[in-house]
Amino acid sequence: MDGHIPEELITKIKGTQDIVEVISRHVSLKKSGQNYSGLCPFHSEKTPSFVVSPAKQLFHCFGCGTGGNVITFLMKYENVTFPEVLKNLARDAGIAIPSKSVKSERKEESLYEVNRLIAEYYNKILLTYKEAGAAREYLLGRGLSTEVIERFNVGYSINSWNNVYEYLRNKGFKDEVLVKTGLVIPKNSGAGFYDRFRGRIMFPIHDTQGRVVGFGGRVLDDSTPKYLNSPETPLFNKGALLYGLNIAKDGVRESGYAIIVEGYMDVIAVCQSGIPNVVGTLGTALTVNHLRVLNRFCKEVILTFDPDIAGRNAALRTVDIFIESGIRGKVLILPEGEDPDIFIRKRGKGQFLELIERSKGIFDFSLDHIIGKSGDRPDKGSIEKKVSVTEECFELIRKIPNRIEQDYYLEKVSKALAVEKNVLMAEFRKKNKNKKGLPVEKSKRLAMNRPGVDEILCILMIRDKSFRKRIKGNLSAVDFVVPEFQEIAGFLIDSDKDIDVMLNSDDYNQGVKDTVTRLACSDLHFDSAEQTFSDCVRVLQRKRLEIGLREVEKEIGSAEMSGTFERVRELLFNKQALLKQKRLLYDN
Ligand code: UTP
Ligand code: MN
Repeated sequence: MDGHIPEELITKIKGTQDIVEVISRHVSLKKSGQNYSGLCPFHSEKTPSFVVSPAKQLFHCFGCGTGGNVITFLMKYENVTFPEVLKNLARDAGIAIPSKSVKSERKEESLYEVNRLIAEYYNKILLTYKEAGAAREYLLGRGLSTEVIERFNVGYSINSWNNVYEYLRNKGFKDEVLVKTGLVIPKNSGAGFYDRFRGRIMFPIHDTQGRVVGFGGRVLDDSTPKYLNSPETPLFNKGALLYGLNIAKDGVRESGYAIIVEGYMDVIAVCQSGIPNVVGTLGTALTVNHLRVLNRFCKEVILTFDPDIAGRNAALRTVDIFIESGIRGKVLILPEGEDPDIFIRKRGKGQFLELIERSKGIFDFSLDHIIGKSGDRPDKGSIEKKVSVTEECFELIRKIPNRIEQDYYLEKVSKALAVEKNVLMAEFRKKNKNKKGLPVEKSKRLAMNRPGVDEILCILMIRDKSFRKRIKGNLSAVDFVVPEFQEIAGFLIDSDKDIDVMLNSDDYNQGVKDTVTRLACSDLHFDSAEQTFSDCVRVLQRKRLEIGLREVEKEIGSAEMSGTFERVRELLFNKQALLKQKRLLYDN
């Protein structure tokens, strides 16, 4: 968090927000007992394990373990920094943050600033400079309207070694900042820097909030590389960014699905045709991180691919990440030699929508591919072929988490290969017995594990501050068994601070913060909190004594060996004291 915004101000800003109201804007919540629950927006789930506590002003997902307060929620949901959330909330509430604090935002701020400035500069060059005449003609020739050029903020980099470098130097940015953005590169020989992008059409790449985080640049002719992209920077991570998502996100939300294409020009052309939910990967394979980002906006994704072997294989490779992300995947195969840009321009939006309509689910697509390999008439193929094809189908079907879906695909295989369904099912079950099943979901594991004594004590101390004082003198933080609970107990014991202070502090890692919100939102019921408290304290005290006794015995052993008699006596004395304590404890 940001040490420069005073804690009281953070509390004041936070106080203007009600967590249930804020989260309700994004998640549909139902009242359940004291709390509210709903489907977690941070992972994919079908039964609600996301809990919001109005009393504590906290949320926690018992499925994926994420938790926090209203600020943490907005940070995660909108993917913004702590100071940014505060700034927005303060603005809405009419609270002034002293400018000194605002200045102290993350270092990344200036990288965003440089990228934004340069995107504007490139755009201005494209639209008005005479050096960009050929670029303008090129884009017009490819059918881009001025409107869509503005919308995507397309630009042009002048064919010069230092135009951008000089431009930014004159604005007062330091060399190291410029290098970090990837816009300029230090010269190999001696001092100096040169521009990465020269004489290219520039496509700024934005994050979901519309901040420029990197660029792709295309040449105007056939020279190579055709596209040059920003290098990986603190802001630019190709494995999670999607081109055009800043523009498409509302369209994706409203339609319930996203179309993923492979190129910048494809995104722009499809968007220009009036299809509002298209995004592009940045010249890399689709990753589960891409899907996690999309999961916030939709539950279904349509991938567009070439019909060639490379295209088909790329589509087949996405099966696992779809399963992992929980997003439904569909595959749209284009005609030979056409990308979405060419297709749309040649055949229009209507035919593209028809392709979308006809796109196949990823499992169907993969099964058809496997079954197709067995010959023109798979049901008539050789028995060896049938056996090997069924095995391959089983490999795929095994990965599908839903039994009903599994059954549906087994049915399909049975029909396609003309194998009796019962026989196929029996074989599938037999083959599956020896394989490891799907990993148990984290939520289920958590539900199975009964909370430990140290965990219960932390819950009690969070619920009732009087326990915090009373534990002092009986136990200290090191007596807690699990390191995370040690940290939490360390914070709670003899303190009357709200756990919010923990959530806002840099001294605790995310794991500890997630745990503390889990404890705070726990609906564990105690018939008598008093009784539970003293029972748990005693259990940990005994544990401490047992450990102490074992240690002292070990020490006595080694002191006897080395013949330090004084030391042995001292240790025996300690041991007696521990044993006495133990008797007292067990008698009670
Ligand atoms: P394509 O070669 O299909 O280009 O690369 P395109 O997008 O259709 O572009 P046009 O129509 O020829 O102008 C698809 C994507 O792969 C990445 C880019 O993101 C591109 O949009 N790519 C391609 C690179 O990063 N570098 C390259 O050299 C080529
Ligand atoms: Mn193309």
